[in-house]
Amino acid sequence: MYKKILFCAAMALMILSGCNSGNSGNKAASPAATPSASASSPTFDEVLKTRRSIRSYDASKKITEAEVRTLLTAVQEAPSWANFQPSKYYVAIGKEKLEAVQNLVGGNKDRIINAPVLIVSTFEKGKSGFFDGKALNEIGEGWGAYDNGLSNCYLIMQARAMGFDTLIMGMRDSDGLRKEFNIPAEETVMAVIALGYRSGEPKQPGHRPFDEVVKFF
Ligand SMILES: Cc1cc2nc3c(=O)[nH]c(=O)nc-3n(C[C@H](O)[C@H](O)[C@H](O)COP(=O)(O)O)c2cc1C
Repeated sequence: MYKKILFCAAMALMILSGCNSGNSGNKAASPAATPSASASSPTFDEVLKTRRSIRSYDASKKITEAEVRTLLTAVQEAPSWANFQPSKYYVAIGKEKLEAVQNLVGGNKDRIINAPVLIVSTFEKGKSGFFDGKALNEIGEGWGAYDNGLSNCYLIMQARAMGFDTLIMGMRDSDGLRKEFNIPAEETVMAVIALGYRSGEPKQPGHRPFDEVVKFF
């Protein structure tokens, strides 16, 4: 009887630990590369603190199209002007497209050479900040860029929550990217975002003194 109880307890433990085995099956390279070594889902604070711009990727680790779909579905939760959702994404995941984009990010090429996914973000013009074809205030198309930045922020944070790493690149050849992905003239090409797994730990960037950038009244 005692043996039977022990056996049942062991089985229950095995089942419980299996239920807690992770987030989309993504395993990080090391505890340092994982927002939380202990929990299956990192806290928001862990995501904030461990997200960094990564300039060296682990060539042995791939990301599937299904994982990118999960990531970009989460990005659709981002707010936008009047819910216009002007941001669009062009995903290079095949070998040829990756090589093409690697050659369109200037001096960033060596930094992202092993990233398994490169994502181009654009926004549709004349939507955010516009009504009846007229800009509603002095920011004009800047609101589309603003919305795209918000979406991209969701992207890099959700990526980190899934155990991935990113590099936003503003240094890129927008004309070359437009041709490569057949991006219409109605869209403004913004950033290319590398997605992959870090190889090694990045330097911690410094931050400006809080009181220099925040004023209370
Ligand atoms: C709009 C934008 C453009 C950027 N462009 C590049 C780039 O072309 N190459 C690069 O290595 N880093 C680029 N970065 C990354 C920044 O240098 C980085 O975010 C900053 O140094 C702070 O470091 P952290 O992201 O690790 O906190 C860019 C970041 C942003 C938000």
